[in-house]
Amino acid sequence: MSDNKTGLDQVTLAAGDKNIVLPVLHPTLGAPCIDIAKVPKETGCFTYDAGFTATASCKSAITYIDGDAGVLLYRGYPIEQLAEKSSFLEVAYLLMNGELPTTGEFEKFEHEVTHHTMMHEAFKSFLGGFRHDAHPMAMLTGMLGSLASFYHNDLDLEDPEQRRMTAIRLIAKVPTIAAACYRHSIGWPIRYPRNNLEYTTRFLHMLKEVPSEPLELSPVAAKAMDLLFILHADHEQNASTSTVRLVGSTGANPYVSVAAGVAALWGPAHGGANEAVLKMLAEIGRPENVKSAIDKAKDKESGFRLMGFGHRVYKNYDPRAALVRKMTHEVLGQLGVSDPLLDVAMKLEEAALQDEYFVQRKLYPNVDFYSGIIYKALGIPVEMFTVMFAIARTAGWVSHWLEQQEDPENKIGRPRQIYTGSANRDYVGIDKR
Ligand code: CMC
Repeated sequence: MSDNKTGLDQVTLAAGDKNIVLPVLHPTLGAPCIDIAKVPKETGCFTYDAGFTATASCKSAITYIDGDAGVLLYRGYPIEQLAEKSSFLEVAYLLMNGELPTTGEFEKFEHEVTHHTMMHEAFKSFLGGFRHDAHPMAMLTGMLGSLASFYHNDLDLEDPEQRRMTAIRLIAKVPTIAAACYRHSIGWPIRYPRNNLEYTTRFLHMLKEVPSEPLELSPVAAKAMDLLFILHADHEQNASTSTVRLVGSTGANPYVSVAAGVAALWGPAHGGANEAVLKMLAEIGRPENVKSAIDKAKDKESGFRLMGFGHRVYKNYDPRAALVRKMTHEVLGQLGVSDPLLDVAMKLEEAALQDEYFVQRKLYPNVDFYSGIIYKALGIPVEMFTVMFAIARTAGWVSHWLEQQEDPENKIGRPRQIYTGSANRDYVGIDKR
């Protein structure tokens, strides 16, 4: 078989007087990969690829991205179709199982997720140990890690059914824990999950309902949140998913593997960008200040980047950003909210897309550029934005973890390095230094 992009079945690496033939692996879609596994043995050299910009770390059948064309597929289905026709829970099923569910399969899945949403009461005292002003992502990381203490001793990772139930528990419990972390930070009592509500609405109730009065929740809010969850559900081997896989490759408890993914997501170069975007837009303040923000982002000395712009894989408009952009206008219109930050965001986007610096480097708005404006319109506090991302991405993380556990080629992840430290030297006593 050969790939129609390159026509290559193998490549030959000339190493000194040796020619090493390396097989080329062909994916269903996308660029072929040169299998370099035998390079160290044949040449005595490792390969170097800082930030893994050119290296595939695994085989995966879950998500496909064509960054040049701006295409995103979950299990082969275009994100635009799923955003229009599906729901987050159905997408979670699809990511985990590979196929869209039948009615019966979906009902069973929804029932299972709904009936695993509670957390052990001991969590309340654990939660109470956090400072009231702890960032919810710090609390979420800790709380998820602590789930391993409830599900470890009897957990048999060799049993596919136990692995599946672990994935379901995580999809079910992360919203409960996330809402509890937020309520702790504002001093509200924890709200228990209500099984008569569907996934996203249930989460919004746990987040926002006060015990003293019923919550009037707009269906627009639940629909918008569900859509954002779909868009954030998976994104192939991004930093947090790769972290989940790296931890998972050691045979570690899956709850700590996902907790590690939450930690990786928090960084501003990754999921923390949605919080950073809103702070940046607020700092810019008015459309008239956009030009100086663009100038600052182009000045390498400033250390400032346009948050919500650029992507490791997309060198075109992020298809999720296009959907969120459209949704922002609709949601704000339907909720009757007018937000001056939307004007700043639109002006910033327009200016950046015409600027030579951004055009040359193919820097386009990413999914996080507009999502914060929607979350703000839905009354979600800024420090919870990355937590929203984590709830959605849990579906992707558990799907990758399941796939990895079943992969016969799974090995402990162990990159090499280029050592740049001192060569071998003798210890010098403290009196002689
Ligand atoms: N503002 C200004 N310049 C930028 C930006 C930006 N947002 N992003 C990249 N550049 C420049 C960068 O300085 C470099 O310039 P030069 O070639 O002159 O050195 C060039 O573009 C390439 O950048 P890079 O850092 O090598 O690209 P990368 O693929 O390693 O980084 C990124 C991708 C997302 C980390 C980066 O674009 C960035 O920091 N963006 C802002 C943070 C952000 O929005 N992150 C959310 C990503 S999408 C959600 C998710 O998947 O988590």
